[in-house]
Amino acid sequence: MDIEAQKKAAAEAALAYIEDGMKVGLGTGSTANYFIDALGEKVRAGLNVTCVPTSIASEERARALGIPLAALDDLPELDVTVDGADEIHPDGLVLIKGGGGALTREKIVAASSARMVVIADSTKLMTAETFGRFPLPVEILPFGAQATILKIRRVLDALGLSGELKIREKDGQPFITDNGGLIVDCHLGHIDQPAALAEALIAIPGVVEQGLFVGIATTALVATEEGVQTLNA
Ligand code: 5RP
Repeated sequence: MDIEAQKKAAAEAALAYIEDGMKVGLGTGSTANYFIDALGEKVRAGLNVTCVPTSIASEERARALGIPLAALDDLPELDVTVDGADEIHPDGLVLIKGGGGALTREKIVAASSARMVVIADSTKLMTAETFGRFPLPVEILPFGAQATILKIRRVLDALGLSGELKIREKDGQPFITDNGGLIVDCHLGHIDQPAALAEALIAIPGVVEQGLFVGIATTALVATEEGVQTLNA
């Protein structure tokens, strides 16, 4: 199975967690898109679900497929969210998310769900030694961005972490999130204390959210050459 086939296989396996009448959070990204497409087919075949998207892109995709949508304000408690990840630490299913810049809404929606099912290809499953290679995305307010970045640097220093901090760009301009925020990608190389780092980053004024998901994911469906492996937190 190539990587695209693995993403699709993991996404389709997540359908097993969806029951008629459920309220479902829809993630963001290429793997989540496979799930939205598969769910769209089920809806066309008669499945009754109401979904809360985590980004404008996922909202548009789901709407085009005829999936019934609601705002989180109208459905503040969901049954399950299905979303991708940039990295999965097998110990406790700690995630790095935000490669698509949707981490804040993704975390709000996942944290409002009884379960979070992560869908991923095999390249996303890390070990304690390799976790943190993906640059950690941190969403910040544009106001005082350089002052916030300085504080992020100090937090990293205090935890013995180093690496480049880059404001994410798209087409030569700062990338702006669906919330009007900026993304600072922290190129750390390795993260060995994700919970401590998450706690310290979120305490910085100007930080809207950070991409470490600690204690949120309940299940990960990781597709490999051999099939889809289920990991539980
Ligand atoms: C978006 C995310 C995505 O879930 C993550 O980047 C994985 O994306 P993909 O499935 O395209 O590899 O966190 O903010």
